[in-house]
Amino acid sequence: MFRSILTRTKSVSWRDVTKHLDRCYADTPEPEPDLKRKCFLLNLVFFVVTVTVALFVGGQLRDLRFDRSRSGSSYFGDKISDGDVYDYIVVGAGAAGSAVAARLALAGRRVLLIEAGGDPNLLTKIPAAAVTLAASSLDWYYDTIPNNKSCLSSQGKRCRFSRGRCLGGSTSINYMMYTRGNRQDYDFNLTGWTWKDIEPYFLRYEGLSNLNRLPKSSAAYHNTSGVVSIDFFQDSSNPWHERLIDGLKSLNFPYNPDVNAKSQIGVSRILGFTRGGERVSTANTYLEMEIVKRKLRIAKNTQCTGVIIDENNIARGVTVHRGANKTLRLYVKHEVVLSAGSIGTAQLLMLSGVGPKDHLEEFGIPVKSDLSVGDDMSDHVLPLVNIKVDHDHRPMSDLTILGSKSLEILQWLITRSGPMSSNSLTDITAFLNTKCYNYTLRRLVNNKPECELPTMQFIYAYMKKGVISLAPSVYYSNIPHAKESFQQISDENSKSAFIVVSSVVLQPKSRGWLRLASSDPLTPPAITPNYLADERDVEEMVRGIKIIENMVDTPLYKKYNASIQRTKIADCPGVDEDGYWSCYARHMTHSVQHAVGTAALGRVVDERLRVKGIKNLRVGDGSVLPHLPRGNTAAAIIAIGERLSDFLIQDQGLE
Ligand SMILES: Cc1cc2nc3c(=O)[nH]c(=O)nc-3n(C[C@H](O)[C@H](O)[C@H](O)COP(=O)(O)OP(=O)(O)OC[C@H]3O[C@@H](n4cnc5c(N)ncnc54)[C@H](O)[C@@H]3O)c2cc1C
Ligand SMILES: *[C@@H]1O[C@H](CO)[C@@H](O)[C@H](O)[C@H]1NC(C)=O
Ligand SMILES: *[C@@H]1O[C@H](CO)[C@@H](O)[C@H](O)[C@H]1NC(C)=O
Ligand SMILES: *[C@@H]1O[C@H](CO)[C@@H](O)[C@H](O)[C@H]1NC(C)=O
Ligand SMILES: *[C@@H]1O[C@H](CO)[C@@H](O)[C@H](O)[C@H]1NC(C)=O
Ligand SMILES: *[C@@H]1O[C@H](CO)[C@@H](O)[C@H](O)[C@H]1NC(C)=O
Ligand SMILES: *[C@@H]1O[C@H](CO)[C@@H](O)[C@H](O)[C@H]1NC(C)=O
Repeated sequence: MFRSILTRTKSVSWRDVTKHLDRCYADTPEPEPDLKRKCFLLNLVFFVVTVTVALFVGGQLRDLRFDRSRSGSSYFGDKISDGDVYDYIVVGAGAAGSAVAARLALAGRRVLLIEAGGDPNLLTKIPAAAVTLAASSLDWYYDTIPNNKSCLSSQGKRCRFSRGRCLGGSTSINYMMYTRGNRQDYDFNLTGWTWKDIEPYFLRYEGLSNLNRLPKSSAAYHNTSGVVSIDFFQDSSNPWHERLIDGLKSLNFPYNPDVNAKSQIGVSRILGFTRGGERVSTANTYLEMEIVKRKLRIAKNTQCTGVIIDENNIARGVTVHRGANKTLRLYVKHEVVLSAGSIGTAQLLMLSGVGPKDHLEEFGIPVKSDLSVGDDMSDHVLPLVNIKVDHDHRPMSDLTILGSKSLEILQWLITRSGPMSSNSLTDITAFLNTKCYNYTLRRLVNNKPECELPTMQFIYAYMKKGVISLAPSVYYSNIPHAKESFQQISDENSKSAFIVVSSVVLQPKSRGWLRLASSDPLTPPAITPNYLADERDVEEMVRGIKIIENMVDTPLYKKYNASIQRTKIADCPGVDEDGYWSCYARHMTHSVQHAVGTAALGRVVDERLRVKGIKNLRVGDGSVLPHLPRGNTAAAIIAIGERLSDFLIQDQGLE
């Protein structure tokens, strides 16, 4: 039997094999016993083949690893010594930091880029492996302080809070969705900060492939030759891909081929930070440019512990912690740039004496500039809603699921295509203003000018049947639910696949904050996301869930017996009672990991991104955005980094 299958697989094409395997996973209520046995064996064979091939390909995998240059590829990167002087020091090699440092290096400046983490690993290359990166060594995975109003079903009522810790920062571990938000989001009521001012920086780095798949009218909104590759994700090959679009269309959502062009509204297949089936990060783009590889110094696995600010309030350099007990002082001729992200930058500012006076004094930190650092943090939040689909009471064996996963990985390794080249969610997203949806007519009406300003983004994921019980720890790292909810959800998933809908509140009213937990720079700061403190955010979530209910009620979804999973929650009204959904939203709260605003333009930095009251110190990252864009944040934050490099070059010598 074993041999006959092997010979058969040799003589048939790849497509035939996958087709045959597909039959094994098809929802046949009563599979013939013969097929069942064949499937089992096929899976076994594929599992063995995959492992063998994976080991064999191991040699080639080494080439795949992020590899800047011979000199910079060691654990600590380029050699640095106590007392070194650079033109500029950039702290944090994330979305913005990699862009600033690379542009300065390209302009001939002597730049040191300091990153707390190391190289991104192989898994970061595989788009669909993003789910495995949560809580990994590449994730800061900060603890958060509960507010008793959100994330109530999560373990300890603490909301998950991930941030990338490696070259590329969060762009090495995120979901790669490329959206710019709305033009109006960039009106910061500050000289030089309107869409018109920032648009050139979005275009400067964009390297869009397949412009021909967008309407002609889109051309003016894109660049095809920038350094950061943008492309469509390949087929996520889930049976609901087209249905998700059709379901929204039947609620009168227009199909919008390009949410980054004139209008954001409607359902779309979005673009991603991807190229040739692999992840694109700011590390494998900016930091891999030939000139950058030669000129930019990078210190990896090196954590900045503070900015050296002299008695005249001029930034002179930074202190870093590297290896077991090593502390170095590094200096700048021109300026220090903090790009350590909304959490890292705010913490470093406070440690260096820039922050709320009373708070710094509590920790005995001499105050250099009394500013509201850490305040007014905002983040995109959502209630996770599972739609049960593809029910099939035939239990699917772990081996079967493992077999299909192995096959997908094998396909990716060989061809860089297939499900592993999709971002592990789906590429379908929709933007709408919930005030422009008529709940009586069950239609998006879009009958007022303000309807062009979305209040909500729907993001969809497809979760195969049985995957939660197969990899509970992966699920838990992403969605750290306490036992009661976890058990119910896992049980349902053993019977049905899920469409997981995130109805993201795009302009949350609640604000969180960040404070030091200790004056020790190696102790993470105290983060209070404070989601859903403002009741209006819950109301918006419930408006979103009502639309999901309408969607599941359309003939298309009905045809497939789709239904929303109503998890029983001890502290909530019954699943069919009033108030269930708002209570549900407070329990099933999750963040999109977009927090911004902790060193906002206007409050902490001026319109040239200079820290108020300190000379030669600037901030360029998510912390400067006074509020969230109506979309995913990476695109905007890279643009901030691009712009800061211009500021630095233009202002050099003026300081
Ligand atoms: C799980 C997840 C999914 C996401 N999905 C998407 C998505 O699909 N689309 C999208 O557009 N956005 C997404 N985002 C958000 C987006 O990636 C971030 O908003 C963006 O990367 C933030 O950029 P940044 O430059 O501010 O910080 P980061 O990119 O986080 O970079 C900060 C860097 O500074 C380093 N650092 C911090 N402290 C120090 C220190 N003391 N010394 C030295 N280095 C330090 C960090 O290690 C990190 O490398 C996601 C984020 C996460 C976490
Ligand atoms: C939340 O509840 C816990 C336990 O009841 C309490 O100790 C804590 O102070 C509360 N937190 C807030 C922000 O109200
Ligand atoms: C814009 O800024 C000006 C000057 O700082 C201020 O007076 C005004 O209230 C601001 N407008 C808005 C809408 O915030
Ligand atoms: C597009 O990218 C190229 C290459 O980086 C750049 O030279 C050009 O200025 C960009 N175009 C626009 C409109 O920004
Ligand atoms: C670091 O310092 C600690 C305490 O001072 C000491 O126990 C440890 O051995 C040192 N480690 C190294 C590698 O020097
Ligand atoms: C929804 O449509 C109905 C029928 O046209 C109309 O009577 C009602 O006012 C609309 N509701 C809203 C909130 O626009
Ligand atoms: C949906 O449920 C009905 C009744 O339980 C059943 O007859 C039908 O086959 C199901 N359809 C699908 C697509 O699962």
